[in-house]
Amino acid sequence: MLRPGAQVLIVGGTRYLGRLLTEACLAAGAQLTLLNRGRTADGWIGERAVRRVHGERRDPDVLRRAFDREYDAVFDMIAYRPEDVAPLLDAPLHARCGHLVVCSTTSVYAPALYQPIDEEHPRGPHPAWGEYNTGKNAVEDLALAAGATTLRPQWVFGPHDHQRLAAFPLARIATGRPVWLWHPGVARLNWTYAEDLASAFLHVALEPAARGQAYNVCCDETLTGLAFLDLCGEAVGATPDVRFFDPAALPEHLRGSRPGALRNLPLACTAHRLRHAFGWRATPMRAALDRTVRWLRESGALEAPDSTPVEEWLAARG
Ligand SMILES: NC(=O)c1ccc[n+]([C@@H]2O[C@H](COP(=O)([O-])OP(=O)(O)OC[C@H]3O[C@@H](n4cnc5c(N)ncnc54)[C@H](OP(=O)(O)O)[C@@H]3O)[C@@H](O)[C@H]2O)c1
Repeated sequence: MLRPGAQVLIVGGTRYLGRLLTEACLAAGAQLTLLNRGRTADGWIGERAVRRVHGERRDPDVLRRAFDREYDAVFDMIAYRPEDVAPLLDAPLHARCGHLVVCSTTSVYAPALYQPIDEEHPRGPHPAWGEYNTGKNAVEDLALAAGATTLRPQWVFGPHDHQRLAAFPLARIATGRPVWLWHPGVARLNWTYAEDLASAFLHVALEPAARGQAYNVCCDETLTGLAFLDLCGEAVGATPDVRFFDPAALPEHLRGSRPGALRNLPLACTAHRLRHAFGWRATPMRAALDRTVRWLRESGALEAPDSTPVEEWLAARG
């Protein structure tokens, strides 16, 4: 567990999951350094003591500046390719990392042989995830071999989600608009609540038993897409108007486009390993959605007129 006063470097740290991790580290009393390009607004940090190192993450000069000290833990939020993480695994930087924890994804798994998927499930290419899968797998290969820890969140939702994975259907349900699906919505999936991922980083940090290990990070509930939408409806106090359409009926210019983020991809996972090893707990889905809705309301984004060209076309047809 991260202890107060620990020296921590976050690579990234200001957009979404990294931003929540920054907040969690500060709440835990860490001495924090952020390495990013300085493009994403970080005014929300306010007057709190956070050291900033600005520049490209692979730039040796930037890394030299960031590693002018030894860290107890380095949290890498933006390793997408082996070239991203490799410099942190080479001497002399590796010796200054303390415990390196890398944000990975459950998209590293090969198509499901069994479900729920635990960490023993084979990693490998997956047709749904393309280069994201191969890049993240190459990162994991390097990181785990060097004794780093990798965390594998699922589809993540929560405050500050720029992709609006849950916010999109939440806003549509809250404003009485239909949620369109091009599939039956029966694939079973475990979501990850964004603040639980930050908590997972804190739980594994500085734990010798976590070195060289990977951990899934997800909520306990395995939900079909339709059950997820029902839960979204409960969280906003409205009944979801779920409709189905045939993608083959879309006009030429919309072929291949999809409305919203829900897919028909089965990805039931379990985070038992993380829970049993370090006492980490997932937030119940309904409570996590309630918190997300509260944040959406407070930021005025629950009434956002979210729609995609596919939805506009479907709505125009009636
Ligand atoms: N969202 C999901 O559903 C989901 C699911 C599974 C896994 N993940 C994983 O979550 C991680 C991403 O989380 P996030 O985007 O929310 O992280 P984040 O740490 O909040 O945001 C990205 C940060 O990286 C900085 N950055 C981007 N490119 C950079 C570069 N070349 N050099 C230096 N800094 C750079 C950005 O700031 P500047 O713009 O100022 O540089 C920003 O602070 C990824 O590892 C992804 O695989 C996400």
